[in-house]
Amino acid sequence: MWRYNGGMQMYDPIGGLYQSLGDAPFYKLVDEFYKRVENEPLLRPMYPADLTMSREHLALFLIQRTGGPGTYSQKQGHPRMRARHMPFKIGQKERDAWMKHMTAALDSVPELAASRQPLFEFFDNFATFMINQPG
Ligand code: HEM
Repeated sequence: MWRYNGGMQMYDPIGGLYQSLGDAPFYKLVDEFYKRVENEPLLRPMYPADLTMSREHLALFLIQRTGGPGTYSQKQGHPRMRARHMPFKIGQKERDAWMKHMTAALDSVPELAASRQPLFEFFDNFATFMINQPG
């Protein structure tokens, strides 16, 4: 999907996915991801005991980011993801654990197979951007 951002035309490779995929694959992805986080000792303690809202927020964020309804921002305000992650200690190890589980989740949702590469690159870059601690 092409986007105009004032000076440049930029290609956003995941910006149009929602249109063809709808909600379901994103909810599946998030379920598969949190199922893995449940058993990840490095990450599990960072998240609340009840993961219901964590699931909902990530699904709504991805739906919005891929061109679907803006429910995430209506509920949570501007994404400002880096600031939202500041309370958590995210170093290279946490980032790699997050990415390992997201990659496995991505590979477990057949509806996302055709978009695996752009989604992988989006998560890979975004996860690196969330690093806020050395080591
Ligand atoms: C790099 C490693 C990452 C770690 C360790 C991490 C950890 C966390 C934690 C502990 C929360 C709080 C959960 C809650 O309040 O329920 C959270 C929230 C969230 N994370 Fe991450 N995260 C990482 C990367 C990412 C990436 C790459 C994305 C998006 C592609 C993302 C999207 C979100 C969203 C949408 C929320 C919900 C924010 C809200 O409350 O509105 N995170 N993350």
